[in-house]
Amino acid sequence: MDMRSKTNGRFTAGYKGLRRLLALMAFFAVMCPAFGQSITGRWYVPGRTLDNGEHQFYLLDLKQDGSNLTGKVESEGGSFDVTGTISGNHFELFASFNSKRPFVTGDLSDGHLNGTFRGNHTFTARPATDADKLPTVSYIAPPPVRFVPYNGLAKTPPMGWNSWNLFAGKVNEELVKQIADAMVSSGMRDAGYIYVNIDDTWEGTRDADGNLRPNSKFPDMKGLADYLHARGLKLGIYSSPGPRTCASYPASYGHEAQDAKTFASWGVDYLKYDWCSAHGTYKNSQLQAVYQKMGKALESTGRPIVFSLCEYGMGDVQTWGKDVGGNLWRTTGDIRDSWDSMIDNIEKQVPTAPYAGPGHWNDPDMLEIGNGHMTDTEYRTHMSLWALTAAPLLAGNDIRNMSDATKAILLNKDVIAVDQDSLGKQAVPIRQGDLETWIKPLADGSVAVGVVNLGPSAEQATILASNLRLNGKVKHARDLWTHEDVKFKNGEYSAEVPSHGTLMLRVSAK
Ligand code: GLA
Repeated sequence: MDMRSKTNGRFTAGYKGLRRLLALMAFFAVMCPAFGQSITGRWYVPGRTLDNGEHQFYLLDLKQDGSNLTGKVESEGGSFDVTGTISGNHFELFASFNSKRPFVTGDLSDGHLNGTFRGNHTFTARPATDADKLPTVSYIAPPPVRFVPYNGLAKTPPMGWNSWNLFAGKVNEELVKQIADAMVSSGMRDAGYIYVNIDDTWEGTRDADGNLRPNSKFPDMKGLADYLHARGLKLGIYSSPGPRTCASYPASYGHEAQDAKTFASWGVDYLKYDWCSAHGTYKNSQLQAVYQKMGKALESTGRPIVFSLCEYGMGDVQTWGKDVGGNLWRTTGDIRDSWDSMIDNIEKQVPTAPYAGPGHWNDPDMLEIGNGHMTDTEYRTHMSLWALTAAPLLAGNDIRNMSDATKAILLNKDVIAVDQDSLGKQAVPIRQGDLETWIKPLADGSVAVGVVNLGPSAEQATILASNLRLNGKVKHARDLWTHEDVKFKNGEYSAEVPSHGTLMLRVSAK
C-alpha cells in the first residue's frame, strides 16, 4: 500500500472539501453577513442601575427562521412576546403591544448584540447563562369588575405640576421643595396649580412586610407631604398595576391595598397609576378590572385621593374610567416638547369629548410649556387647546426659572377660567383649510372660541357669531391673549393669526 499516495489522496480530498466549505462560507457571508453567528438563543441584556440600588437586566429569548424573528422579552416586570426581522446583521423587534415603533433594534456582531431599547437605552448583550435568572411573577387574577363610587374630587380639571416632562429620573426631595416654594412665590398656587406630583423613580424597595419605601432621593415622604400641605399645596405620587413601573422601579402588583394605605399614611392626595409592565401580566381586556382594584383600594383608605389612570387611551378608557373611581385618564401616548407631538395628542383626544365632565376628565398628557422646544406662540396654542378641551393643567417645566413669557402663558387667568369652567365641556374642532375652530360652551351661557392656525403662514381668521351657539346677539367679546375687548361687526370678528398661533375669545350674548 502506498502510504504516501494515500495520505496525499486524503490530503487532496480534504483540501477540496475545505475549498468547497470556504466557497460555501463566502457565499453565505455575502448572502447573509450574520453567517457564522446566530441570533437564536437567550441573551442577557444589562440595564441601568436604579436609584434604589437594583441592577436591572432583561433576557431576550429569540428564534430566527430565515429573516423572521420571534421571541420573548423577560424582565422583572414580566414578559411579553416580540416579533421582528433580521437583515444581514441588523435586527428589529416589535413588542406585542406596540406595532408602530420597534421595541429593540440592533446589530449582531462578534457574538454580541449591540442595540437600543425603546429608542433610548443602548446596550451590549451577551449570551445568557443558567445563572441569569429572573424572579418568577405568579399571576394574580384581578377581582371581578365592580363599580367604585365617585370620590367627590376634581370637580374641575386637576391643576398642578409634575416632575416627569423635564426632570424625569432627576427628581428628589430638595427639588420638589424648591418647586413647591416657587409655586407659591410665582403665583402658580394662587392661580390654581395646587398638586405637586412626583412621577416615576421615587421608589425604593419593599421591607420584610412588603411595605414599599421611597429610595434615598426621598428620605421622608410624610415630611414632604407636610411641607406641601403647610403651603396650601397637595402631594401626588406615581405607581403601576404591574410588578414594575415604566422606569423599572418596584410597583404595586400584588400590593395594591398595602400601597394605597402607605400612600394615604404619607398624606398623598393624588395617584397616577401607569400601566407599564402590566403589559406583561394582564391582557388589555382586563384593564377595567385591574384599574378598579386600585380604585377600590384608594376608596378603602378613607383619604380623598385623586385617581389618575395612565394607560395611553387603551380599551376606550373614556367609556369606563369613571366607573373604576378614575378622575382623569390619559387618552394618548406620551407628549414630547414639540409642535407635532402636542397637536397629535390633542387631535387624538377629540373622540373622547362626550365623556368629559365634572369629576372625570380626558387627559392628553402634561404640559410642555416653558421647556424650550416650541415657540411662545406655540406654547400659547398648547395652553389654549388644553383649556378649550377641559384638560388637566399639569405644568411640566422648571417653575423656579420661568421666563416672563412662560409665566404669562401659565398664569393667564382668563384662559385658566376657560379650562376650569364648572360646566366641564370639552370642545371639538371644525377645520377649514389650515384653520381649526374649537368652541367650548361655558357655565354662564357664554362661549370660549379658539381659532388655531395649523399652517405655515399667517392667516386671517373670521369668527361668525352665528356659529357660536349663543342665545342672542353678541354682548361682549374679549381676546383672552391680548386681554382686550374686541367688537363683532355685522355678526363677525376678524383678526390675523400667526402660523401656529391661536386667536382665543370669550364671547357672551345679550
Ligand atoms: C410613562 C408615562 C409617562 C411617565 C413615564 C415614567 O411613559 O406615560 O407620563 O409617567 O411612564 O416612567
